[in-house]
Amino acid sequence: MAATASSTAATAIDLRSDTVTRPTPAMLEAMVAAEVGDDVLGDDPTIIKLQEHMAKLTGKEAACFVPSGTMANGTAIRALTEPGDEIIGNHTGHFYLYESGNYAAISGCSVRLIEGDRGQFDVEDVRASMRPPDAHFPHSALVIIENTNNRGGGSVWPLDKIERVAAEARRLGLKVHLDGARLMNACVASGHTPAEYAARADTVSMCFSKGLGAPVGSIVAGSQALIRRVHRFRKLFGGTMRQSGYLAAAALYAIENNVQRLAQDHENARTLAQAIAELPGLSTDVDEAETNILYYEVDPALGTAADFSQRLEESGVRMLATGPQQIRAVTHLDVSADQIGQAIEVMKKLTH
Ligand SMILES: Cc1ncc(COP(=O)(O)O)c(C=O)c1O
Repeated sequence: MAATASSTAATAIDLRSDTVTRPTPAMLEAMVAAEVGDDVLGDDPTIIKLQEHMAKLTGKEAACFVPSGTMANGTAIRALTEPGDEIIGNHTGHFYLYESGNYAAISGCSVRLIEGDRGQFDVEDVRASMRPPDAHFPHSALVIIENTNNRGGGSVWPLDKIERVAAEARRLGLKVHLDGARLMNACVASGHTPAEYAARADTVSMCFSKGLGAPVGSIVAGSQALIRRVHRFRKLFGGTMRQSGYLAAAALYAIENNVQRLAQDHENARTLAQAIAELPGLSTDVDEAETNILYYEVDPALGTAADFSQRLEESGVRMLATGPQQIRAVTHLDVSADQIGQAIEVMKKLTH
């Protein structure tokens, strides 16, 4: 049984997430060749190089390497708030839905959620979510913007919308965190730079272990003072590592080699969306396939999303059931255009 399961996993066209990628031989070579030190003592040269590079890339004074996107968001939230504060964000936000409630458990914050559209919202929503300056209410402290937005189907925030929301937040005395787990997907899709998106945010996070193909790691960037706090909270959360330069080498390799190719993932996602939209019993909005994430609905005549994804799995295609009738597919560097074609053929067979 175990042999069958692992061989299916190895040969499957795995579209469950862009986190499933394995490091390429060239990335592994870069990792093996890394010069390392002890990052707890502050002298790992590859970590220092990565942090300096990412600070520059995001237009911030400093950056701190952390093990995961969850810790990137968690340390940023903790650095930007005090217990009892309230966070304003979209109801589909990753920080809210999928991080074990760490904003509450670790930072002691409550949330005020905006309905929004595909994970995005505007200045009026922020204004309406702001609590009056009265001791009865929690203190509104922080706005979180997620770009691209995962549950929004990889939607890309227009730059002027981020600028408007962030400027209004600042005017209202709120801090801004940009959850840029997939910021590079947004940059490749829109042509804007990470620094342009991050300019009005106090902190920005980015993941190396999603579409960029590194095995581990994320970054938080911001002012010197904020990153000192992030660094302290990383220690408090148990996220400090020693010879982490090996991981930083993978991240540097990813930033140097795997950014422009994200355009291919976006094209693959669009091809897949176009095919799905044509299949009987499946539906998706092709115009919403902006980057590498797409969601589609399964007609109950084909069973539940879990049933359909099980049949896909048995035919060597892995996708994630994300609702009773909803499935998510995510393209990435371990799935070629040819394999997208094969996945489409499988889906045709299962729907006809
Ligand atoms: C938008 C967003 N933020 C944060 C995270 C958390 O990243 P990690 O799984 O590395 O903790 C994810 C993970 O998918 C994500 O999609």
